[in-house]
Amino acid sequence: MHRDRINRRYRSHQHHNVPISEMPRIPISLLRQAHTIDPLLPALLAPCRSLNVAQTELRWMREHVDRVAKARRARGDIIAKGAMLRQLVRERSSGKPLQYQLGTEYFGDLEIQCRPGVLIPRQDTAASVANLVRLLRKVPKFNEGELRLLDLCTGTGCIPLLFQHELARNDVDLRVLAVDVSDTAINLARENMQRLSKSKPGQMALLKADVLIDPFADQTRGMRNLKRAMFEEQHPQFWDILISNPPYISPSAYWRTTTRSVRGFEPTLALVPPGRAGGDDTKQGDLFYPKLLAIARDVEAKIVLLEVANLEQAQRVVRLARALDIFDGIEVWREDPTSSAPNSSDKHGFTIVGEGNVRSVLCWRGKGSSWLGKVAAQDDNHRILQSSSFRPVPAKAAHLDTTSSQPQFDMSSWVEQRRLEFDRNPCSRWKQIKNRAKKNDRKKRKVKGNTWYQYADIPWRT
Ligand SMILES: C[S@@+](CC[C@H](N)C(=O)[O-])C[C@H]1O[C@@H](n2cnc3c(N)ncnc32)[C@H](O)[C@@H]1O
Repeated sequence: MHRDRINRRYRSHQHHNVPISEMPRIPISLLRQAHTIDPLLPALLAPCRSLNVAQTELRWMREHVDRVAKARRARGDIIAKGAMLRQLVRERSSGKPLQYQLGTEYFGDLEIQCRPGVLIPRQDTAASVANLVRLLRKVPKFNEGELRLLDLCTGTGCIPLLFQHELARNDVDLRVLAVDVSDTAINLARENMQRLSKSKPGQMALLKADVLIDPFADQTRGMRNLKRAMFEEQHPQFWDILISNPPYISPSAYWRTTTRSVRGFEPTLALVPPGRAGGDDTKQGDLFYPKLLAIARDVEAKIVLLEVANLEQAQRVVRLARALDIFDGIEVWREDPTSSAPNSSDKHGFTIVGEGNVRSVLCWRGKGSSWLGKVAAQDDNHRILQSSSFRPVPAKAAHLDTTSSQPQFDMSSWVEQRRLEFDRNPCSRWKQIKNRAKKNDRKKRKVKGNTWYQYADIPWRT
């Protein structure tokens, strides 16, 4: 059987939040049977939990050893294949994920490189991303042919790569920005993008930033927040679609529900949001969602897809999204959102689509509504006005308006013009705003220095 098909059959049960029996008791008769087939097999029965799967894994390990030996031979090296195979079996029996051993995992149809230190992509995530793209494939035309995707907490870079692969439309100029806080993840995502991306240079970019850092906090030291990193590396400030599979497991759920293999080998940074010992467990698990939704608001995302652990977390995320009051609609997707099972309705009034465990929350607004085939597009500017971070510039604060010849409240042209200007040249745009603010309002604003982030009270959306 093709490796991808087997992956789907049994790795989908390996979601990091699905409890499994960690030490299955294996009947002696099965151990004997395994040993007669291959003396290496019994050690694989515990992690694989069935003879068939153990045989398949052993076959993949042999193929992997052959590949490595061939590559080394080509460089003039010789390796002891038997010793290498035994080492792989030993590591696997101690719980090391096969994906780290073989160095790849399938994500949809893509073979993504994996490495310790970066989360192994899960098929549930791929199912949500593929379903979103399935809906978007039908859109006759996006903006001016361009579609912008912001992937926060990108890990291996699997989400934007699958999005691009599944969209497969030559008429859409897909622009991607993938963000992660970890150097190991950024480097691996870069390798995956170099191997698998079909983008023109510059269309798929990576950015190191911490999405948890308050964009208005003093940023003189340490890790950059997203806003500052985007600004410094001259990325657009506005994105059509925001996707994120953030760390979302609370500390207690980490110990209760994850497997020994996940805890022992996958990075905690990718799974459990940071927090203080003794803090609120649920709040810590949900830590990323308010930040991600605030970013979605600020970048004016028209569609937001956030992965969650279960229905309870989905309900809390829906509540947060509703409180923002910027979305036209919200629904929740299960593991298989394409299933023909009838949709259900949650007591909190949202639709739950598909079959299996609850896995993601989808929000949409403005044009995003029509892209998803939900309702006719509303004027996005209407929503921008409602967005809590945005207020039209009052006459007194006109020092921020550098295009005073334009009517202050003609939102459609005003917003569009600023968006175009900023995206064309964010640096000079910031300089312009900074200089104008300095010149016109020096005393009132008590300007202390000249680093851009000291102008944090200038709204991000200029
Ligand atoms: C659950 S993993 C998801 C990886 C990938 N998107 C996937 O679906 O396989 C979460 C990722 O978030 C990153 N991360 C953790 N804290 C972060 C932060 N404060 N800012 C940005 N990324 C963060 C981790 O390095 C990790 O790669």
